[in-house]
Amino acid sequence: MTVPVNVTVTGAAGQIGYALLFRVASGQLLGPDVPVRLRLLEVPQAVKAAEGTAMELEDCAFPLLAGIDIFDDPTAAFDGVNVGLLVGARPRGPGMERSDLLAANGGIFGPQGKAINAGAADDVRILVVGNPANTNALIASAHAPDVPADRFNAMMRLDHNRALAQLALKAGVPVRDVANVIIWGNHSAKQYPDIAHAVVDGKSAVDIVNDDAWVRDTFVPTVAKRGAAVIEARGLSSAASAANAAMAHVNDWVNGTPEGVWTSVAMPSDGSYGVPEGLVCGFPARAKNGAWEIVQGLEIDAYAREKIDVSVAELIEERDAVTELGLL
Ligand code: NAD
Ligand code: LMR
Repeated sequence: MTVPVNVTVTGAAGQIGYALLFRVASGQLLGPDVPVRLRLLEVPQAVKAAEGTAMELEDCAFPLLAGIDIFDDPTAAFDGVNVGLLVGARPRGPGMERSDLLAANGGIFGPQGKAINAGAADDVRILVVGNPANTNALIASAHAPDVPADRFNAMMRLDHNRALAQLALKAGVPVRDVANVIIWGNHSAKQYPDIAHAVVDGKSAVDIVNDDAWVRDTFVPTVAKRGAAVIEARGLSSAASAANAAMAHVNDWVNGTPEGVWTSVAMPSDGSYGVPEGLVCGFPARAKNGAWEIVQGLEIDAYAREKIDVSVAELIEERDAVTELGLL
């Protein structure tokens, strides 16, 4: 029997947690032959709700689910972690910007980083979903000096999927015919959704769409502000689509991206595309042998450069703000 993979999920009793856990337990995160042991972390007042979710997980009788443990202590929850999905954080409400969450949520990720440093398995991979995700990943990584920084990612995959969907709608093709959009920068309204290198049915998306005004005035803001639009419509932030994106991110990270296709990943910059080293920034990336590689050599025109720089400037501001707050 294969040794189960320890998957720690924080915020397990929240709405993303509820959309995520059953899919993880069913084998969709890592593969149909990989048993998983779930380690759920919640704040003490939500442990009872997490226990209820655990009962339902048991009631599914998933053959790959090797066990469920529930914790309110990060050190215990991250002991032996192979894959960590850091979801637990306060979501935005209507009218809030992500920056409003910096202080509230930044404080969660330092202690979790320390716990990961203390107990994680050698192959640990951490995906931060809780907002502001990029800066939270930076904080967690800074508190885990013994874990390579590139094992800390933040999620841009939901934005990536939103961009694929909007482009497919415009081009009038199924989503499966669209690939290689890029979400640069921060998971915020200042991200830059870029179709310059995207393909529709193997052809240049720019040529197929042939409508610069649509790209700049409709596509970019629709994708970048989709999170707020969902909050406005549901009265709650996106959950199932966020969980779906987290599943796809980790599955690609572990099992590799398909040939010829890239995705969007926020990871510590190595200086690529002029992004200051260490910032957790959205890049085009392919996964091979369990590690991401930033896609190199893409041409960046003046418009894209300006948009990327705006998003990177916001990441620098967030980094400076959490430094000021003593969180980094
Ligand atoms: P939610 O309020 O439904 O659930 C959050 C859960 O986290 C709650 O159960 C809460 O008790 C728990 N929690 C809070 N502090 C914790 C801590 N220190 N340790 C463990 N658990 C803790 O929220 P949600 O809708 O599930 O969203 C979770 C986060 O994901 C939010 O920050 C939201 O903004 C973010 N999000 C990110 C993306 C993305 O694309 N990166 C998309 C959607 C939502
Ligand atoms: C999203 O993109 O849907 C989430 O990050 C929620 C939000 O606050 O926008």
